[in-house]
Amino acid sequence: MSSYRVGYFVGSLAKGSINRLLSKALIKLAPADLAFSEIEFKDLPLYSYDYDADFPPPARAFKDAIARVDALLFVTPEYNRSIPGVLKNALDHASRPYGQSAWAKKPAGVIGASGGGIGTAMAQQHLRNVIAYLDMPTLNQPEAYVQFKEGLIDDKGHVTVDATKQFLQKWMDTYVAWVQKHAG
Ligand code: FNR
Repeated sequence: MSSYRVGYFVGSLAKGSINRLLSKALIKLAPADLAFSEIEFKDLPLYSYDYDADFPPPARAFKDAIARVDALLFVTPEYNRSIPGVLKNALDHASRPYGQSAWAKKPAGVIGASGGGIGTAMAQQHLRNVIAYLDMPTLNQPEAYVQFKEGLIDDKGHVTVDATKQFLQKWMDTYVAWVQKHAG
């Protein structure tokens, strides 16, 4: 297999983010020749189309980072039955100026963890709506709604429950095959 660059987003800015732990676990389960890099968005200003005439440096860097990778992975919490505002802000930034979106045709995966039983299902549906509009081909199956219990994933990204580890491994294997098929 040739090597692919995957840019991933963690939809939480929290230091103790369980979705950051999930991203670490997923990277551990991925084949070594998939190169993962986090694309951060914490320094992006709140988007306004007033920026379109002269995009601020953090927004340019954000779009450049997306342009450099072959595929994307969104690892997001659910906040109030949707995606966190910080992630929506990032999606909006890289969609503009009009006609210069960084998102189009980038193959994407969507996954997330929450303490609640629906495991980010509603946030993922909202995210899918946005990224479909932004023209990202997205892995549909398997869906992955991770209900996080204390200790499920340790600080190093080891998954401590075998059934969850196997499930995430299957998800990652399918995502890798998807990237191989769809990355330009
Ligand atoms: C939550 N949480 C939450 N959980 C859920 O399953 N559905 C929801 O709609 C919400 N809503 C929500 C709103 C806000 C503002 C916060 C801070 C939290 C709980 C959430 O799953 C939990 O805090 C996770 O730890 C969030 O993931 P990160 O930020 O730790 O990665």
